[in-house]
Amino acid sequence: METSNPQTQFLLNENEKLRSILQISKIIGSEIHLDNLLQIIIRETSHVMEADRSSLFLVDAAKKELWSKVAEGMDPFTKVIRFPMSVGIAGAVATGGEAINIPDAYQDPRFNPEIDAKTGYRTRSILCMPIRNTKGKTIGVIQVLNKKSGPFTREDEDLLETLTSQAGISLENAALYKEIENLFEEVVSTIVTALDERDRTTAGHTKRVAIYTLKTAVAIHRSTAGVFADVQYSYDQLRRLRYASLLHDIGKIGVNENILNKATRLPDGHMLALLERLKRIRWYLGIAEKPRLSRDGETREEREEILKWVDEAALFLEDLNRPTRERLADEEKDRLDGIRAAHFIDPEGRAEPFLTDFEYKYFSIGRGNLTEEERSHIQSHVAKSFIILNQINWPETLEYLPLIAASHHECLDGTGYPHHLNRESIHFDAKIMAIADFYDALTAPDRPYKPQIPHDKAVAILQGEVSKGKIDEDIFKIFLEKEVYHLSHDDYQTFGMGRWSDDLKPDRILSV
Ligand SMILES: [Fe+2]
Ligand SMILES: [Fe+2]
Repeated sequence: METSNPQTQFLLNENEKLRSILQISKIIGSEIHLDNLLQIIIRETSHVMEADRSSLFLVDAAKKELWSKVAEGMDPFTKVIRFPMSVGIAGAVATGGEAINIPDAYQDPRFNPEIDAKTGYRTRSILCMPIRNTKGKTIGVIQVLNKKSGPFTREDEDLLETLTSQAGISLENAALYKEIENLFEEVVSTIVTALDERDRTTAGHTKRVAIYTLKTAVAIHRSTAGVFADVQYSYDQLRRLRYASLLHDIGKIGVNENILNKATRLPDGHMLALLERLKRIRWYLGIAEKPRLSRDGETREEREEILKWVDEAALFLEDLNRPTRERLADEEKDRLDGIRAAHFIDPEGRAEPFLTDFEYKYFSIGRGNLTEEERSHIQSHVAKSFIILNQINWPETLEYLPLIAASHHECLDGTGYPHHLNRESIHFDAKIMAIADFYDALTAPDRPYKPQIPHDKAVAILQGEVSKGKIDEDIFKIFLEKEVYHLSHDDYQTFGMGRWSDDLKPDRILSV
């Protein structure tokens, strides 16, 4: 507002500045991410100070350096500027702790014209002020350049001082928040490492699932046409999805590892005991004057035939216990029943079964190498993931993380586990994770209980799951179209473990 009365005009100006300060305080106070905060402080300071541009440098006390990631007019992610604290006006303010107001930069010996020479910018006036934390320690320096209406005044100094005290509090908060984020990152990283250490055969699975999941989510976020054109991910949502993926199998900590890595029908060690028993029986049969073998109560004396039968039974059982063996055919089941019915009568006249009830139970598994009991024990890892993750009082930005993590085995048709959720009730993020998890389970190398399946075959299997209505067709389409399954070194850098909160910024990840 303009008025001819100078006193009224002064009051109006002051009022306007006060409003700006309040406005800035509000904006600065509501931002917790350091990079965003730096940009906001710089932008708002330039605006209120009626300056051409501003820079903000943070103190790296350990290295005795000033650094900045953001300078107005520069791409914030391409460059980090660092220089010794002893250099330039900013350095003088950082070390001296006093503001410096220079009306004409080129007349001041402390001014370093090199940057102007490099950038082609012409610096005239400079107002540079320390930013202090709540303990009064200088944590940064703000430098305001070229006031549009002439040199910076005493009032400008007061105004900037008010702004920097606000900025100091916010920067301190952002640093604390970052510290907490980094700590959390380290904790998750430690958990993932512990999980990998415990189960070497599936080591790497967690990270790959996180990468596949995140790459798919980013592809969905970036899609501008089709069913996902309106689906957007925020930085916090993406961060939640990343932690959910990294922690999705944490419940495996509570699963017996002998069952988790079981490769054969019989549990470890039992095949050896069985073969030893058959060897002993064979030896008895070989030396006994009158070998006696009861099969369904029948006694035979044809030694060679009996020995041959025992040898073949041993070979058959060994074959049944091969890892990755096919399903048990009907005629094989009959043969198994025949062996189970056979007994050896020892020299004392006691009947000893060729196959114990325990062994028979495992050999007669129809498909795969797990009994129902073992299968449900392994499946319980998801419920355990939920219980473990639900112990944490997650902040609002990570709300529902346990639910997302523990829904990675749910199917759209309600046949998944643990809760038999359906298309409508499964969280969208879990639908992505289900595909990532399934694909990796198929293509992962060196699992003792299954051969590695080549990419094409894995895609065909997943396509089959789409046809059966178990996994999401559109998400799978994006997974294929964007070749999410190709893992590059860069993918590991971007989405894998470590330094997410430091180097990975939402703008970079989510930009189109
Ligand atoms: Fe799982
Ligand atoms: Fe998994």
